[in-house]
Amino acid sequence: MERQELFDTLLERIKAITAIASNKEFKLEVVCNLLSKNIAGYDWVGFYRVDKSRKRELVLGPFVGEPTEHVRIPFGKGICGRAADSEETFLVQDVTKEDNYLACSPKVRSEIVVPIFRNGELVGELDIDSHTPSAFSKKDSEFLSKVGELVSHLI
Ligand code: SME
Repeated sequence: MERQELFDTLLERIKAITAIASNKEFKLEVVCNLLSKNIAGYDWVGFYRVDKSRKRELVLGPFVGEPTEHVRIPFGKGICGRAADSEETFLVQDVTKEDNYLACSPKVRSEIVVPIFRNGELVGELDIDSHTPSAFSKKDSEFLSKVGELVSHLI
C-alpha cells in the first residue's frame, strides 16, 4: 500500500477507535500500537500531556516502545519541550546533530513531535522516534496533525 493510502486508511481506523466505549488511556494506547505496527520506521510512539497542575511541564502518557526515563519534560527542554514552547511541529532528521535533545534510546536517529490542541489550547503532543535517519516527511507531519485532532478529546 502506498504511504498516503496507508495514512488515509489509518485515519479511518483511528476515528473508529475514538468512538469505542472504553477509557481514554486504553484508546490512546490502541492508537500508539496501530501507528507503530503499521508504519515502517515508527519505532517509538507516545503521547505527552501538558501537566495541568504544574503547567509548563509535559508528563508521559500512553506509549509503545522502549521505556523512557523522560517521564516529565519541562517546556524548552529537548525536542518535546521545544515543540511545547513553540506550539509547532518539530521534525529532526538527525538527532545526533541536536544539542538540546533528550535521548530515549541510542538507536534513535530521527524524531517528530506534533503538538495537540483542544479549543485552541496546547494540551499535549504526539512523539514518534525512528531508528531510521530522516524517517519523516511533510506528509508524516500532516498525517500526525490529523491524528492529533482526532484524539485531542482523549488527552
Ligand atoms: N527525545 C525526546 C524525549 C522523549 S523520548 O524520545 C521518548 C526529546 O528530545 O524531547
